[in-house]
Amino acid sequence: MFIVDKIRADFPILNREVHGKKLVYFDNGATSQTPQIVIDAIVDYYSNYNANIHRGVHTLSQEATDKYEEARLKVQQHFNAKHSYEIILTAGTTHSINVVASGFSAILKAGDEVIVSSLEHHSNIVPWQMLCEKTGAILKVIPMNQDGSLRMDIYHELLNANTKLVFCNHVSNALGIINPIKEIIHAAHKFGAYVLIDGAQAVPHIKPDVQALDADFYVASAHKMCGPTGVGVLYGKEELLKLLPPYQGGGEMIETVTFEKTTYAGLPHKFEAGTPNICGGIAFGAAIDYLNSIGFENIAKQENELLAYGTQELEKIEGLKIYGTSDKVAVISFNLEGIHPYDVGAILDKLGVAVRTGHHCAQPIMNFYGIPGTVRASFAFYNTKQEIDVLVASVKRAKMMLS
Ligand SMILES: Cc1ncc(COP(=O)(O)O)c(C=O)c1O
Repeated sequence: MFIVDKIRADFPILNREVHGKKLVYFDNGATSQTPQIVIDAIVDYYSNYNANIHRGVHTLSQEATDKYEEARLKVQQHFNAKHSYEIILTAGTTHSINVVASGFSAILKAGDEVIVSSLEHHSNIVPWQMLCEKTGAILKVIPMNQDGSLRMDIYHELLNANTKLVFCNHVSNALGIINPIKEIIHAAHKFGAYVLIDGAQAVPHIKPDVQALDADFYVASAHKMCGPTGVGVLYGKEELLKLLPPYQGGGEMIETVTFEKTTYAGLPHKFEAGTPNICGGIAFGAAIDYLNSIGFENIAKQENELLAYGTQELEKIEGLKIYGTSDKVAVISFNLEGIHPYDVGAILDKLGVAVRTGHHCAQPIMNFYGIPGTVRASFAFYNTKQEIDVLVASVKRAKMMLS
């Protein structure tokens, strides 16, 4: 049974005070908190079997290798990839996207078209702009509606025989909107285009099935799903990962090296040059186990209740406007009329409430609404209605102080 108080006890940081107030952590979209079991996995690694992997015959190295490869299997199962070698462990979403963008710079030609959604995080815009600059490919944008949903009618019009790639997030970080990625993928495939889904904001809330989605690439970061920073995943279909050239050269990613010629290792090692974040990878596996032990149905139920309650209570505040009202996860992005979001965030911090303020690395969305940024409260399953009451009272106080 899901008992929130029992779950909160798994997260030592939730006992913290900030400025003499009990911490209310509503910045889960930026990074989620870490349960003790994941912290223990990190301590266990450095206390008991810290060693480099894949290349040692000694016991510690073999233990670390086994645990790291076990973690890859956990990621494979969680995302339902067909093969474990389709799971590349990277430094995070940004790294994963850059691996794919850099790979396609050797494949795309001038005049090819790529499509990006207007709801993207900068890390799913800038690498593609760099790719277009290098190759002469043309970047096209799916516009958005006032409610934060994508103009799917225009997306279908943009697709044509020249379209080679489509990039879209599963869930928007700035607004929390859930995008119709199945439709996006299916439509792109009709034109032979490949689709990369940025799952960074989806994975804390939804268990993605890359085979059911038929995603060509799906990327995410461990730190958004109760894991550590500096580790993430690039899922790619086998044939596409084979098609792309390596991102970085170095140790681990080679088969043979001579001064005349180097041949590359097979998957996944071709994309994993150098010593990886071994501890991070193992802790990522522990985080996946933890989330699955809570259950994604329980997570969704708790978070949807928080979203409904938070929306209802915040909407009662006069002059408060919520951005992004279409189908979404537990994120409320809002502004108080005539007040800069940064000022609201600074006062909330003094009251112990951690929220994100600013453009959320999604400036095109802010430009669309004609605002400098928003205050974003992003909830996790370990948050409570009582904490939302604190948020609402704090926003009212901020409004009073700043009006
Ligand atoms: C939708 C989305 N994509 C990409 C990223 C970048 O993730 P990372 O900084 O872990 O590489 C984020 C981070 O907030 C995000 O929300």
